[in-house]
Amino acid sequence: MAAPMKGFLKNKFFTFCQCFKQHDGIRVHSLHKRSYIKWKDMAERSAWETHYKSSDQSIDWLLSYGHLKHVILPAISPIMRENVSFKIIDIGCGQSDLIPQLLLNDLNNTNAYCTDFSYHCIEQLRNKFHQLNIADNCTNGNTRQDVKSCNRLNFVNCDAQYLPFQDETVNCIIDKGTTDAVLKDVIKGKKIFEKIVCECFRILHKDGSLIQITDEVPELRVPLLELVFSKFKIQTTQFSLSFKIIEDNEMEYYVYFIKKG
Ligand SMILES: C[S@@+](CC[C@H](N)C(=O)[O-])C[C@H]1O[C@@H](n2cnc3c(N)ncnc32)[C@H](O)[C@@H]1O
Repeated sequence: MAAPMKGFLKNKFFTFCQCFKQHDGIRVHSLHKRSYIKWKDMAERSAWETHYKSSDQSIDWLLSYGHLKHVILPAISPIMRENVSFKIIDIGCGQSDLIPQLLLNDLNNTNAYCTDFSYHCIEQLRNKFHQLNIADNCTNGNTRQDVKSCNRLNFVNCDAQYLPFQDETVNCIIDKGTTDAVLKDVIKGKKIFEKIVCECFRILHKDGSLIQITDEVPELRVPLLELVFSKFKIQTTQFSLSFKIIEDNEMEYYVYFIKKG
């Protein structure tokens, strides 16, 4: 997990930030502050709260909007229907600008939810994106020309194991580096991963998709996902699994598409 953010919003709202992997954790450097999270603590809310309290600079883990737009849009366009509101959620959004960028540039009539279990992270994001006026766009009318019609951006402080959404009400869920972080906890990680995947499956529409963006190779991630589905008696006819590889800076990243139905 070492890619700095490359989106164009960086220049406007954020300061450059970088991640460095160390043997027992990850160090995040920004111009003014630095933070250190141990691998073993990456499933802990308190560790992330400390991180976001000490650093309010933006960072996009793994890949950014520029890399992902071309793989996410083809995957979701078949399930976007004209005049029907589309619902997309980022679980463990951190300071990523992926969802705001999709709203600003590509999506119409979309209700988007940036969610994270860190209170400070969500408050920082809310303050940053308040300037874009996309949160109130539907009710107050378009205030910016570049904002697509009737988009709403919401910020929710919640644990991805207990998502505050009703069954089968969400079209797309993005997990970029969140279950990766959880899985770094060798004791509790797999259990939390299972709960998060099941919770996503509960809230997804019948033709909805969970999209996981990770640096975990298919030899590890695919059996892990299949294990969750077999454990919770989700039949192979109830989902389909595929993935794409994206190369950047001599690193390979994987985008897994878990489609319900
Ligand atoms: C590696 S960062 C990725 C952040 C962001 N998705 C990105 O790509 O830049 C992991 C994020 O997941 C959040 N997180 C970890 N476990 C979580 C959980 N159980 N529920 C919600 N958020 C969680 C952390 O607070 C952190 O913001």
